[in-house]
Amino acid sequence: MITKLLEMREIAKKKIQEAKSIQELNETKALYLGKKSPLQEIMSHMREFSGDMKKEIGQKVNEFKNMIEEEVNKRLEKIKEEEVERKLKSEAIDVTLPGKDIPLGNLHVLTKTIEEMEEIFVGMGYDVVEGPEVEEDLYNFEMMNLPHDHPARDMQDSFYINPNILLRTHTSPVQARTMLKAKGSPIKVICPGKVYRRDDDDATHSHQFMQLEGLVVDKDIKMSDLKGTLSLLMKKMLGENCKIRFRPSYFPFTEPSVEVDVTCFKCGGKGCPLCKGSGWIEVLGGGSVHPNVLKMAGYDPDVYKGFAFGIGIERITMLKHGIDDIRNFYISDPRFLKQF
Ligand code: DAH
Repeated sequence: MITKLLEMREIAKKKIQEAKSIQELNETKALYLGKKSPLQEIMSHMREFSGDMKKEIGQKVNEFKNMIEEEVNKRLEKIKEEEVERKLKSEAIDVTLPGKDIPLGNLHVLTKTIEEMEEIFVGMGYDVVEGPEVEEDLYNFEMMNLPHDHPARDMQDSFYINPNILLRTHTSPVQARTMLKAKGSPIKVICPGKVYRRDDDDATHSHQFMQLEGLVVDKDIKMSDLKGTLSLLMKKMLGENCKIRFRPSYFPFTEPSVEVDVTCFKCGGKGCPLCKGSGWIEVLGGGSVHPNVLKMAGYDPDVYKGFAFGIGIERITMLKHGIDDIRNFYISDPRFLKQF
């Protein structure tokens, strides 16, 4: 009987240790400790054994029961651990796997041109100001010395919201706004921003483009100051060898007015197809602020003088990077944009 008990004990122990799930373990436990277990069966026959034998069997059965409890608890812990491990393994993230490549954008090349020019001008003591894109006729034309019937309006007549409000056709209205705000004190500002014109879109024209306006007003301002300023700007933007030249021109808001050319960056001034053989490329307009413009904004033109200029941001960017079609700036093609 004792040997049988010991044999049974070994089998039970093995069964418990091999149990794969909590359910299997509970079943094994019930098999040995339940009402119909062989141990219960033995206990119910205890009366049939003699004194010593009875004691020994009783002891062995108790040991058996304790062993079952102990082994079941041990196994239960183990099963739980294994479960956690399995779960961790199935949910594991391999941190050594290469990550997903998120394509990074970069600043638009026009923004870069603006920032570059701003830095140059701020270095010369200019403030950067802004004005509204939806502008009053008053600032866009009237105060820029372009009265209602002025023929030069034709070149710029554009997108009207109502007879008095339009999308600004140039950044020049910011001149008037800045002068009114400065109330007669000296001014040194640039204003970059978008402008709008009724224009056919082609390789060099767009109904929307960008300008950078400049305005300096003080008591002793000459055309030579304008030339020095623009010469420095173009050297910094297009290279040390870049020269500029003034050509007489006409703008209603400046007198005298000039158109400014730079030496062709492609041929260095010798003449090539890009500069149409002249060696020069036109980049901007400027001049001495017209007395009427100063007067309308509250400055005495006998005391105050000024210079102003308007640079096409697209144009400078096209020259700087050899871009041949203005539409590239607006069509958001990453193959174009990521080159800069
Ligand atoms: N506003 C002019 C244009 O859009 C450019 C310009 C010319 C601006 C001469 C100026 C200036 O400030 O003095 O064509």
